[in-house]
Amino acid sequence: MSDEFILETRNLRKEFNGFVVINDVSLKVARHTIHALIGPNGAGKTTCFNLITRFVRQSGGSIWFDGQDLSHTGPGALPHLGIARSFQISSIFPHLSVLENVRLSLQGRLGKSFNFWGSARRLSHLDDEAMSHLRSVGLAEFAKRTAHELPYGRKRALEIAATLALDPRLLLLDEPMAGLGREDVERMAALVRQVGEGRTVLMVEHNLSVVAELSDRITVLQRGDILAEGSYEEISSNPLVVEAYLGGGHG
Ligand SMILES: Nc1ncnc2c1ncn2[C@@H]1O[C@H](COP(=O)(O)OP(=O)(O)OP(=O)(O)O)[C@@H](O)[C@H]1O
Ligand SMILES: [Mg+2]
Repeated sequence: MSDEFILETRNLRKEFNGFVVINDVSLKVARHTIHALIGPNGAGKTTCFNLITRFVRQSGGSIWFDGQDLSHTGPGALPHLGIARSFQISSIFPHLSVLENVRLSLQGRLGKSFNFWGSARRLSHLDDEAMSHLRSVGLAEFAKRTAHELPYGRKRALEIAATLALDPRLLLLDEPMAGLGREDVERMAALVRQVGEGRTVLMVEHNLSVVAELSDRITVLQRGDILAEGSYEEISSNPLVVEAYLGGGHG
């Protein structure tokens, strides 16, 4: 595996009860890029994420992260490897403060080395770090608020802050723009770009103008296979892709 690529799937395959969902996907994600995975509903995008994050086991093929074979790893190993997936809203603790949510995530990263009964000084150090993550997603002023009070778009930003606390090298975002209004989309797009600096982001996203704006490279998935790959210009002028989106392939 070359140093250029941080993540590689080789002939990845997934069947559910004999039904092929991922047929033969060899995906290469270059280090320090924002890479988008797009395609019609049911193409297998989320399943790809579930395979990469080891929530489901592949039926065939392999997954490589930074030269390491993940094919036999479970999901528990991922934070230590430096892979994080954006948290779903349901994983925010609604009755804790915004700051406490990020602090919990930090404690999770520090794992066993974190002493729960540690000194007040260490706790305040955690607060400092949590605040810096909140600042970077524009939530500093909301730190003391209870998480459930946040408007939807801010909750999504809190998920990102909690994910950043894990200090991942590879961040997987499944439809970060879903359900956001126009203003929140712009804010989230700026955030994804910022988060992508010095990291690698693999993003599933249906909002094609966001994909065009953010992505260094795009892979189009259709019915479990890679249909096309390239820059937004290349993808959007590819007749096969146009057909998949506008023709009968959309469902
Ligand atoms: N656990 C499962 N058991 C059976 N079938 C599944 C399972 N997970 C996904 N599938 C099927 O795999 C196919 C691909 O689903 P997947 O969620 O990966 O698509 P997607 O590209 O993320 O679609 P969307 O854009 O709608 O989110 C679908 O036909 C889905 O019904
Ligand atoms: Mg999906």
